[in-house]
Amino acid sequence: MDSNLAAIVDEALAAADGAANLGDLSALSARYLGKKSALAAAKKALGQLEPAERKAAGQAINEARERIEAAFAARKTLLASAERAVQLEGERLDLTEIYGEVRRGHYHLVTQARDRLEDVFVGMGFRVAEGPEVETAWYNFEALNIPDWHPARGSFDTIFVNLGEPEEVMLRSHTSPVQIRTMENEEPPIYIVAPGRTFRTDAADATHLPAFNQIEGLVVDRGITMGDLAGTIDEFVHAFFGGDVQSRLRPSYFPFTEPSAEFDISRADGSWLELGGCGMVHPNVLRNCGIDPDVWQGFAFGFGIDRLAVMRYELDDIRELVNNDVRFLEQF
Ligand code: DAH
Repeated sequence: MDSNLAAIVDEALAAADGAANLGDLSALSARYLGKKSALAAAKKALGQLEPAERKAAGQAINEARERIEAAFAARKTLLASAERAVQLEGERLDLTEIYGEVRRGHYHLVTQARDRLEDVFVGMGFRVAEGPEVETAWYNFEALNIPDWHPARGSFDTIFVNLGEPEEVMLRSHTSPVQIRTMENEEPPIYIVAPGRTFRTDAADATHLPAFNQIEGLVVDRGITMGDLAGTIDEFVHAFFGGDVQSRLRPSYFPFTEPSAEFDISRADGSWLELGGCGMVHPNVLRNCGIDPDVWQGFAFGFGIDRLAVMRYELDDIRELVNNDVRFLEQF
């Protein structure tokens, strides 16, 4: 009996080990543990034994059954996890085929230009100031010496906001209002640059965007002259564009500066390119902010950051900056 049982157990364990999949395993389990198994037959035969032998024989059969069951359970766990792994592998989606390798983005070209401008001016002792994108007529025009009858007011192509009195609230049409906010809130000496978004009713074309970026500079201190302005522009142009690029001032007109100028930068072919406006802060503007023009003088300048990026990277069309075509953006 014992050697018979041992042979059944050996055969069952070998069969369990050899089962190739869960289906085969369950058929084999019926064969070695089911009602028609040798084990079941042995259990039935117990009745024919002498009562004295029956207990030991019954225990031997139970032990044999437990060993076989344990072997089948272990094999089942193994086969189930192998089949799961095969299934997962089959269902895996290879996303790299769609997206290519994982890539990191980078700052937009205009953001890079703005950051570099800030670095250059901070390096020269300026601080970065900010102001709101929605302004009142006082900050966008009046305090800047542009009263409502002034013809320059029309040239700003202002986008008005329907809040309060008509034409009193607007999207700022330049960054110059940040000059006023700074002078109202701080005592001179003042050395600030104010980068930010600005808005005009311009239709988008190769050289215009209705929402664009400017950077404003303002210095208010004692004994400031036009020479300080020219020197600051020259210094900035060298730091930003490189040593060979020259700058020059050309007489111009802005209501908020007197005298006023436009500043140009030199190109490799000897021609000049207009970059922005500048001048000595108008005494009316200083007075509007509670600063005594007999004690303090200042200069200011302003130019478009998007245009600067267009020049520096020799782009054909300023709209490339907002099309967000990755093939374009990747180049910078
Ligand atoms: N605010 C002017 C503009 O948009 C640019 C400008 C000119 C700013 C002269 C200044 C300045 O600070 O002095 O178009």
